[in-house]
Amino acid sequence: MRTLQETFTLANGVKMPRLGLGTWQIPDGDTIYETVKSAIDAGYRHIDTAHAYANENGVGRAVRDSGIPRGEIFVTSKCPAELKSYDLALTSFDATMSALGLEQLDLYLIHAPWPWAEMGTDYSVANREVWRALETIYASGRARAIGVSNFNIADLNNILEHCTVRPMVNQIRYFIGDIQDELAAFCKAQGVQVEGYSPLATGAILENAILLEIAAGHGKSVAQICIRYVFQKGIVPLPKSTNPKRLAENAAIDFELTHDEMTRLDELHDIATHLEGPRRAT
Ligand code: A2P
Repeated sequence: MRTLQETFTLANGVKMPRLGLGTWQIPDGDTIYETVKSAIDAGYRHIDTAHAYANENGVGRAVRDSGIPRGEIFVTSKCPAELKSYDLALTSFDATMSALGLEQLDLYLIHAPWPWAEMGTDYSVANREVWRALETIYASGRARAIGVSNFNIADLNNILEHCTVRPMVNQIRYFIGDIQDELAAFCKAQGVQVEGYSPLATGAILENAILLEIAAGHGKSVAQICIRYVFQKGIVPLPKSTNPKRLAENAAIDFELTHDEMTRLDELHDIATHLEGPRRAT
């Protein structure tokens, strides 16, 4: 599948595959191991995890056992949102690397600008400290790129105005009906690549009548329309599935949504029926 071979080049020259596997809520042990293994067998070369997902162990084991040269798989992890100091971030990075069993990470992100239990609270001073830790990690060569997640424009400006190394990525929630285009445009203008998590709205938009109609017109599934939409926006979709058939389906998006279809999809709002997980950052 062509899509799985395409890459974006981050601001520091590192290449990131344009589509990745999300692993939020996939349990450690056999489930994550088999999922990552199936994804790699299907051609995925980009795996997104986080310390908070508690599955880094299985992700690392599957990557190491895959037989694919380490340099050909892009692995991301994240510093827990609750850890808001320089020292805690450095210690957590060590824990991530030993759980993964890898020498080097491709991308390390600050998971959120605030602890999840305090969403919206101003942690700007502490975030600058955590960012300084990520700069130290980057300088050591143990992470090839660094960035943030769930940061809004103000959160990003706080880092951009004080950093030595600029964030290369912002990973945000992004799906049809709940897009964050002002933030995405700001990131683009700043040279920050956007990744989109929950491109299927964790499954909550798959029955939408308009999406079903567009999918039928292309002979594709609604999931494929959702992922293609994010991809065509220039954002890296990180769909998640534990099912090998769906893993392959989610990467088979070598088709084009028309300009009119993209506009129609842009205009949909709040179509998620039973959304789980955190609300968006802005
Ligand atoms: P499963 O793991 O059983 O495939 P998101 O990527 O937005 O977080 O959505 C993930 C959810 O969507 C999971 O519940 C996953 O279930 C489901 N899912 C993933 N791919 C597909 C697909 N191609 N068709 C239907 N549901 C899917």
